[in-house]
Amino acid sequence: MYEEEEEDDDTDSVSPPDEESRVRVEDLERLRRSASEELERLTGRALPEWTAQPVVAQQSRRHDLWGIDIPVGPLFYPCCGTDTGDAATLFGPYVSELHFADPFCAPHRMARSVARPDLHLTKGQRGTSQILREIGNVVTGASGHFQFSVKGCQAYGHMKDGLLTLLEDLGELAVFFYRRDSEGEGGSDQRWLRPVLFDVLLSRMLDGGVIYTDGSNGGGAYTGLAPDDDHVTSLPVDANVGDEMTYRNRVLRCVYRGEATGWNHPEAAWQIKLRSRSGS
Ligand SMILES: C[S@@+](CC[C@H](N)C(=O)[O-])C[C@H]1O[C@@H](n2cnc3c(N)ncnc32)[C@H](O)[C@@H]1O
Repeated sequence: MYEEEEEDDDTDSVSPPDEESRVRVEDLERLRRSASEELERLTGRALPEWTAQPVVAQQSRRHDLWGIDIPVGPLFYPCCGTDTGDAATLFGPYVSELHFADPFCAPHRMARSVARPDLHLTKGQRGTSQILREIGNVVTGASGHFQFSVKGCQAYGHMKDGLLTLLEDLGELAVFFYRRDSEGEGGSDQRWLRPVLFDVLLSRMLDGGVIYTDGSNGGGAYTGLAPDDDHVTSLPVDANVGDEMTYRNRVLRCVYRGEATGWNHPEAAWQIKLRSRSGS
């Protein structure tokens, strides 16, 4: 008889920190490699290696609300549903392009006005989901993108898996926007803030780029344990503006923290910079 596996419960993520959900740095490479092999078997696409030197953008713009300089480059919001407006309002004036990815819901609805039948397929016609170790859900067979306008900004909708959009269609990011996702019940179960994809994501951020998130799908790792020199986790949920942590040779600094709303954690923005040789 089928026995249900015990799953991490995302709604329970305010529970005490869970030591087990931390990954030792020496174990990360092994996990990354096996996740990468699985992904490659499924999609022909491997996970990229860690990039020691982040790419430096040619230009930056001062963010009016937070007083920080953001490199000019693309914003990426995977698993976006129809949630496009706030990302455009908060970051539209500073980034070069807005990219939203969702193989199911978003492109279908965002593209209502776009007369292309391939954007209006039913969910079942649009792709196949598979759960991979460390990465979570990956959807294959979904593709297609279109342009639309949100809050006066030009945007791209990718009718495609979030991770595959990052790996195949985008370069280094100025902003990664990710919120209100979950591991089940309509959530993507794509594990952007767990050690393996978190490492991939940090590697793909431009120097000075910003991660804006409520910590969705970070699992137990998101309950207050920051990474340190020996352990990889995720972003701590209870950070305050000015808090810093280091990850490999990057410094992550909290530049904004919002209020908790409903069962969601507060949203926070983290700026990621190369750690200087002096250690700051
Ligand atoms: C819980 S909803 C969150 C939507 C949005 N973040 C919000 O705040 O309204 C999760 C979304 O992830 C999408 N999704 C599911 N699998 C995905 C995948 N592999 N890649 C990208 N998006 C995915 C679903 O279609 C759904 O719209």
